[in-house]
Amino acid sequence: MSYPEPFTETAFETYADPPIRVGVIGTGFGASLHLSALRENPDFLTAAICSRRPDRARAAALDHGIPIHSADYRELVRGGDVDAIIVASPPHLHHGMVIAALEQGKHVLCEKPMARNLAEARDMQRIAERVGSIAMVNLQLRFLPVRMRIYELIREGYIGEPHAASVVVHRSSLSDPHDRPWGWLMEQEKAGGMLGATGAHYLDALRWWFGEVKAVAGAVSTMVRQRRLPDSSAMAKVDADDNFSVILRFANGALGTIHV
Ligand SMILES: NC(=O)c1ccc[n+]([C@@H]2O[C@H](COP(=O)([O-])OP(=O)(O)OC[C@H]3O[C@@H](n4cnc5c(N)ncnc54)[C@H](OP(=O)(O)O)[C@@H]3O)[C@@H](O)[C@H]2O)c1
Repeated sequence: MSYPEPFTETAFETYADPPIRVGVIGTGFGASLHLSALRENPDFLTAAICSRRPDRARAAALDHGIPIHSADYRELVRGGDVDAIIVASPPHLHHGMVIAALEQGKHVLCEKPMARNLAEARDMQRIAERVGSIAMVNLQLRFLPVRMRIYELIREGYIGEPHAASVVVHRSSLSDPHDRPWGWLMEQEKAGGMLGATGAHYLDALRWWFGEVKAVAGAVSTMVRQRRLPDSSAMAKVDADDNFSVILRFANGALGTIHV
């Protein structure tokens, strides 16, 4: 049995020489998680950063000591200054940005949820296979020691053949309409909603542990239908889900449910 020790200052050995040059699109989670993680790992050099608003791109570049910043992701993926791109923009933009990066021969790490729908996801996969780049969706919770241990226990037969899984999550993070302001997460058209935001991680874990899903049914609902606009007391309509329930049938016949 083996699983990683908690990260320490000396946790990373160097494998890439010279380091892999990374461009990051997005300064939300892109900055709070990816830029910090890249800085800790000597295999990577953050060469460029992109945000829709030029001032945000410039500020992130200054904060993190990144040489190139841009408000145009096409400029970033076209440039010869990066080997790999992290796409950490809102989900409705992933398809176009990932394909633009792949077409320029870059490797890609795309944030979850990968795409708005199956057609977009298949398109992205097809192009990644054609160009031969490494392409991956950021489902980083797979690397949590507890989740890796569950995988090992199931593989070792410790719990026998899994017959059922049940995930119930009581979240209150979107319950107050005046707290977190309105944004893409509240817009269905931009692939907002909790099914994509958190469901992606639970679905990934269950598929990893139990095997492929053969049938699925579910329902989504929006309970908080208005939310305050950023820097304002005015309210805007929410049409993305803040509540979902999914039932899955795995290849071995086991059933799983996820309710958030
Ligand atoms: N793996 C995880 O556990 C996890 C956790 C949180 C989020 N995420 C994912 O990360 C992605 C981003 O989420 P977030 O919370 O960081 O969103 P966010 O705070 O709204 O940030 C989105 C970023 O994308 C930029 N952007 C928007 N349109 C753009 C364009 N046309 N060109 C270039 N940049 C553009 C925004 O620029 P401006 O700010 O300049 O407008 C901003 O920097 C989503 O897919 C989300 O699901 C994953």
